[in-house]
Amino acid sequence: VLGHHYQRDEVIQFADVTGDSFKLAREAAARPDAEFIVFCGVHFMAESADILTAPEQKVILPDLAAGCSMADMARLAQVEDAWDVLADAGVADRTVPVTYMNSSADIKAFCGKHDGVVCTSSNAKSVLDWALKRGDKVLFLPDQHLGRNTAVLQMGMSLDDCVVYDPHQYNGGLTAEELQAATMILWKGHCSVHGRFTEQAVDDVRARIPGVNVLVHPECQHEVVLKSDFIGSTEFIIKTIQQAEPGSKWAVGTELNLVKRLAHDHPDKEVVFLEQHVCYCATMNRIDLPHLVWALENLAQGHVVNQITVDPETEHYARAALQRMLDLPG
Ligand code: 13P
Ligand code: SF4
Repeated sequence: VLGHHYQRDEVIQFADVTGDSFKLAREAAARPDAEFIVFCGVHFMAESADILTAPEQKVILPDLAAGCSMADMARLAQVEDAWDVLADAGVADRTVPVTYMNSSADIKAFCGKHDGVVCTSSNAKSVLDWALKRGDKVLFLPDQHLGRNTAVLQMGMSLDDCVVYDPHQYNGGLTAEELQAATMILWKGHCSVHGRFTEQAVDDVRARIPGVNVLVHPECQHEVVLKSDFIGSTEFIIKTIQQAEPGSKWAVGTELNLVKRLAHDHPDKEVVFLEQHVCYCATMNRIDLPHLVWALENLAQGHVVNQITVDPETEHYARAALQRMLDLPG
């Protein structure tokens, strides 16, 4: 039973392994003896687990409605159209497609087919370094914020090096000249949870809690990240709070189940949720105890329910993109 950190307490208590999406992908790949993997997370994570495990291993998602609004913002047909736009601008052969783990298997396969790669919030910088050794541009899917924050804050690029490709506009809303001048072509997608943290929330919490440290996930908007003190993946956020001095104060901008758990597990530190107007990730929360119990009871009776399978061709190319990521050092 693999559990993402954004899962409810009632579910996470039964996970054999907890982790962010990177750690869970590795953990799935490292368990060739597990006949069944019950994935307490969202659909794209279960797909990745299926891709990285052997054909006889079965991956189960306790509720099929546990999708991800960000992953849904990049559809294969839209990405193929975008690639044609890049080809018309004369830049496709110099562009490496990079997709965030939070994308469907067919988008990962698209990247695999075009010599691209997958990244997660824990390794976006090393993946972009890898990609920019192989091309002089990156098409970054589907989270514009992770792409922009990594490029500007970790790789020394400027905002002018980034353009936003909007799949709902003609030619992405960009001219050939804009595409030719850009290094980062950011897909216009975002997380409907992290994208809602605001600059105002950072100002408010600093006024309310003097000396507070603001710690946010890189899926947050660039302006919010600029006002924060620390930025990092879910695993980074957990480690930072674990290692913080007793008595220190933290406002955390990530999914609410995790922030509540951090506050509960660290009573010697003050840990608060950054924003008043952000709620749980609705799709992560679809996995509740009744769904987990239902999936496990069926398994105990020999019925495999809600199996997630990726077709062999998609799996082949998606695995290539995932494997390139897993092979990077670190
Ligand atoms: P990580 O698990 O990579 O931190 O991603 C956060 C997230 O939003 C997962 O859906
Ligand atoms: Fe998707 Fe955001 Fe929910 Fe993660 S937190 S599953 S990126 S909507």
